[in-house]
Amino acid sequence: MRTTEVASFAEGKPASRRSYIGWLVGLCSAGVGAVLAVPLIRFSLYPLRANTTEVKWSDVGPASDFASVTSPVQRAVTVEQIDGWHKTVSEKIVYVTKKPHGQPEVLSAVCPHLGCSVQWNGSKQEFLCPCHGAVFSPDGARVSGPTPRGMDSLESEIQNGRLMVRYRYFRQLIPTKEIVG
Ligand code: FES
Repeated sequence: MRTTEVASFAEGKPASRRSYIGWLVGLCSAGVGAVLAVPLIRFSLYPLRANTTEVKWSDVGPASDFASVTSPVQRAVTVEQIDGWHKTVSEKIVYVTKKPHGQPEVLSAVCPHLGCSVQWNGSKQEFLCPCHGAVFSPDGARVSGPTPRGMDSLESEIQNGRLMVRYRYFRQLIPTKEIVG
């Protein structure tokens, strides 16, 4: 009986050491594999994780068209946005006005209240939102109504004689401008 126990113990020891070494080698291999896979996974998923939307410049028209505007001019611009692997092209309405020092300013037509399309009323010389009656002055400042702020100005510049704009979307219902896309 005593002999059998010793033999069994003696036989079990090498087998247990082998399985422990095998387990250790497997664990190390898995660790190395995981470390090597991280950069690959991050590279593959980058476009999905990126929370920035790339917005191309949109052509509003020849800068000379807006050199002598006396009241806001409406234009439709083609907007190209790239979000990860997803590219969207759409048409948006903007208004070109003039800053006090004469430079053109481009305003989004999206009402900062709930997103309706603001329209220019030439006879009253004011912008009016048809949904809930918000009124804006010719430079886009808030005059009255439920809107929490004035019309949103868009980044713009003259490039090779053309007025270009970078179209963005802004958070509604808050008093400050906050880009959401
Ligand atoms: S959406 Fe313009 S006033 Fe409400």
